[in-house]
Amino acid sequence: MQIFLDTTDVAALKTLAATGLVDGVTTNPSLIAKSGRPMLEVIAEICAVVEGPVSAEVSAMDVEGMLAEGRKLAAIAPNVVVKVPMTKEGLIAVRLFAEEGIQTNVTLCFTAAQALLAAKAGAGYVSPFIGRLDDIGEDGMQLIHDIRAVFDNYAFDTEILAASVRTAEHVQAAAIAGADCATIPPAVFEALFRHPLTEKGLQQFMLDWATAGQTIL
Ligand code: G3P
Repeated sequence: MQIFLDTTDVAALKTLAATGLVDGVTTNPSLIAKSGRPMLEVIAEICAVVEGPVSAEVSAMDVEGMLAEGRKLAAIAPNVVVKVPMTKEGLIAVRLFAEEGIQTNVTLCFTAAQALLAAKAGAGYVSPFIGRLDDIGEDGMQLIHDIRAVFDNYAFDTEILAASVRTAEHVQAAAIAGADCATIPPAVFEALFRHPLTEKGLQQFMLDWATAGQTIL
C-alpha cells in the first residue's frame, strides 16, 4: 500500500520524505487555508519534494470552473493530481480531464456506489473518508472493503485512496482491506513507527549491550 501524507506543512513533509517511505501527498481546501499561504506556491513546493502524486483540489462547483482550475493546477508539475468533489459536475469534469490526460482524485466519497460512479467516470483515485464515517457512528473501514469488492468485480483500475485516516490502526486496517493508498497526517505517520514493546525491548537490548562492554566497530 502506498502511503501519502495529508498535509500542506512543507517542513514536516521534507523531514518525513527523507525516510523514503512517502509515496505522495494530498491536500484539501481546509489544509491550504491552514497553511496561510497561496495555494499555487504551496503545491509547487510540495511537488518539488515528492516525485509521487500530489493532489490539489479545485474550488469551483461548476464543470467549466473545475476544468479551468484543474488545468491551471495540472500545469504546476507533472505529478499534480486534480482533486474534484464527488458531485455530478465533478464526475463530468473527471471524464473530460481523463480525455486530456489529466489525473484525478474524486474526494468526499462515502458509499461504494459513489466510488463506482467515480471509477466509471475514469478517476485515477477515489477517496473514501474513513474517519468521518466513524464520526457519525458508521464503520468507515467497511467502505474500503466494499469498494475493493466492487472494483475487483469489474476490474476497475481506479485506486482506492483511504482518506480521513486518523490512527495507525486505521492504516493497518486499510492495508488489510486492500486499499491501494492511505493518506495520513504527519502525526499518524510518526505513530506508525512506534510500539511500546519496540521501545521497551530496545531499551533492554541497549542496557544488556552496555553491560557486555562489547563494540562492533
Ligand atoms: O484530505 C481529506 C481527508 O483526509 C480529511 O481528513 O480528518 O479532516 O476528516 P479529516
